Amino acid sequence: MQVILRQLGDCNIRRAEPSDLIPVMEINLKTLPEHYSDYFYESLLAEIPEAFIVAEIGGKHVGYIMCKTEYGFSNFKKLGFVKKGHVVSIAVLDDYRKKGIGRILVEESVKGMKLKKCDEFHLEVRCSNNDAVRLYEKLGFVIRQQLNAYYRDGEDAYLMAIELD
Ligand code: ACO
Ligand code: ZN
Repeated sequence: MQVILRQLGDCNIRRAEPSDLIPVMEINLKTLPEHYSDYFYESLLAEIPEAFIVAEIGGKHVGYIMCKTEYGFSNFKKLGFVKKGHVVSIAVLDDYRKKGIGRILVEESVKGMKLKKCDEFHLEVRCSNNDAVRLYEKLGFVIRQQLNAYYRDGEDAYLMAIELD
């Protein structure tokens, strides 16, 4: 059964199902240089369906966010060991950007991470990716570190994180 989380005009924001994975991979191929194996997509959906979310308009997939969880040192507390959510990837097809879909995808994944009892949520983003950095900042993420040559082409990443209550 489909779990519709939000609607934005004619766009449905809902939890992903196995049949969404191929369209999600297609969006990823069109929009980002970082790609993953089929198995990785399947394992993220199996692990946290609460934070694997798609945006769909009239049967066409236009965006997704997918996340994982991990345990590790806090991005905020000295010496704290916490459960962390991690945004693996988010994208919206070019023609559907700047309509608020990206924001809803992040907001809903934050809710999913709270359901999973994560203490914090973080992600890496290219320092040059102004659109994405601005979106995350608006939603309360803050830059905690700059990761040197994080990407294969040598670009640095910002590690951005938010504390969840
Ligand atoms: N009318 C006009 N403007 C609007 C409207 C509207 N109805 N709704 C939102 N906006 C504006 C927002 O205010 C925001 O403005 P700003 O950039 O000036 O702050 C802007 O549109 C974007 O916000 P959203 O619409 O919520 O986000 P969008 O759907 O465009 O998605 C995203 C953002 C996902 C970063 C997109 O640009 C994208 O897919 N980029 C390519 C892939 C990418 O870089 N992904 C992130 C990599 S990092 C990682 O994956 C962890
Ligand atoms: Zn992480």
